[in-house]
Amino acid sequence: MSQAEDTAGTRRDFLFYATAGAGAVAAGAAVWPLVNQMNPSADVRGLSSIFVDVSAVETGTQLTVKWRGKPVFIRRRTPEEIEAARAVPLTDLVDTLAENANIDPAADASDEHRALDADGEWLVMMGVCTHLGCVPLGDSGDFGGWFCPCHGSHYDTAGRIRKGPAPRNLPVPVAAFTDDTTIKLG
Ligand code: FES
Repeated sequence: MSQAEDTAGTRRDFLFYATAGAGAVAAGAAVWPLVNQMNPSADVRGLSSIFVDVSAVETGTQLTVKWRGKPVFIRRRTPEEIEAARAVPLTDLVDTLAENANIDPAADASDEHRALDADGEWLVMMGVCTHLGCVPLGDSGDFGGWFCPCHGSHYDTAGRIRKGPAPRNLPVPVAAFTDDTTIKLG
């Protein structure tokens, strides 16, 4: 196989995985866009936020919503997942930065800096592999978190890269609870 053919094959695989991932987006999700109601003259596409009702998300499951064209994973973690994530020494991590848009960019990748709430029950991350952009699978991989099948990247229960070619932890987007059961993205 020539280099060109090989590259084309890789790209097809990538598109397949990306499409497969997108198919799972927003299944059963109650999501509604709030199109920047307070400031209609602004660039609504670039600034749009969404509010996600997470009241139906059971412990140990994950909701995937589409936001700004990309999947976002919203996981309600079990006590075991939280405990596993918090027991990992920072020295075991590939990417030692939190990669969390809500806090100091220099913050370390401790689980407390990744989770949305102090108890660590909620984890919100972009569902985009930091290697070449595939959508990782949940409840998978060697660390009980996410697995990207494109080239074999394993993420732990805090979404931190632990093994494989991906260089960075799954990024945590701007997110916050607006009430007990609603998460605002953006
Ligand atoms: S895109 Fe290559 S491992 Fe995820």
